Amino acid sequence: MPKVTIDNHEIEVPEGTTILQAARMIGGDIVPPAMCYYSKLKTSGGYCRTCIVKVTQGSAKDPRPMPKPVASCRTFVMDGMVVQNTTSPELLEARKGVVEFLLLNHPLDCPICDQAGECDLQNLAYDHGADTTRYQFERRTFEKIDIGTKIKLHMTRCILCYRCVKVADQLTEGRVHGVMNRGDVSEISTYITNAIENDFSGNMIDVCPVGALTDNTFRFASRVWFTKPMDAHRNCTKCSGKAVLWMKGEEVLRVSARKDMYNEVEEWICNDCRYENKSVSQWTIEGPRHISKDSVISQNHYEHIDLQKLKLDINRQIKFQGGKQIEEHYSRAQFEEESKKALQAAKK
Ligand code: SF4
Ligand code: SF4
Ligand code: FES
Repeated sequence: MPKVTIDNHEIEVPEGTTILQAARMIGGDIVPPAMCYYSKLKTSGGYCRTCIVKVTQGSAKDPRPMPKPVASCRTFVMDGMVVQNTTSPELLEARKGVVEFLLLNHPLDCPICDQAGECDLQNLAYDHGADTTRYQFERRTFEKIDIGTKIKLHMTRCILCYRCVKVADQLTEGRVHGVMNRGDVSEISTYITNAIENDFSGNMIDVCPVGALTDNTFRFASRVWFTKPMDAHRNCTKCSGKAVLWMKGEEVLRVSARKDMYNEVEEWICNDCRYENKSVSQWTIEGPRHISKDSVISQNHYEHIDLQKLKLDINRQIKFQGGKQIEEHYSRAQFEEESKKALQAAKK
């Protein structure tokens, strides 16, 4: 199995693993951002360039560096490869340039955008963007379009990541959705006005990393950080029925799929669960959703600590720092005590 070193962490991975997947196996801050790659969708990635990394050694056999930054979501690991992400200031500067490109035509809509607070582009701009823009020309704008009755397309905010197109291709029958034209006149459009009535079309909203595709049934109902996300499930014949209810008091304002730490949907949900079951009595509530990303949504709510996940994270950190693994017989009480101390220390 090939071995790769990413930001000084070495890992052995199966043949055919990409640099991004290897980085995710290591985890933590060294994982490059990804605005178009989506592990649940085939052939995604390769469009946005946010995941670029610097390859300082191509492989053990051919140790020459790669001449330019490469898209980590599309570049396979070679044995002996050495990669830099956060440890390369030039690479971070190059990523800043990518973010600047993504924002060239993007509107300053955050104060009125439904995606605010859970937007990958906001997070990306915060972590990697420049403070100001150098762009002086008129930004391109589009009229908002209704895709069926439930989805609103605001093309002006689209970053052309193609994720929604992959969902249309891979989850729904009969593609009625695509990217038209090229360059700065590209748009996710046409046939879409004919409505996407497929049972799983709502998942396009969840995969969209920005506020270009939003849920018409939730638009302007509330800022997302004023809602309380709850894990809930119901018996559904079309999907797993596992979802997140975004609640205000007893009211269910929105139903969405559950997402993992990379903001990717864990299991696709059907439109019945998403749009037709907005009463608490139709669901079995499991408890508060753990919002794993640094998010404004988790502020002032409640803290739900996933002890099992925390243990895995600590294990992984210790392993990659060359320290000792936490002993398997570590008691739950000991572990909880250590976890509390770690959290208190992190808050200081
Ligand atoms: S898509 Fe994201 S960055 Fe763009 S306006 Fe909406 S919240 Fe802001
Ligand atoms: S609408 Fe959203 S998901 Fe579709 S290409 Fe644009 S940014 Fe990506
Ligand atoms: S995530 Fe790799 S190019 Fe977009």
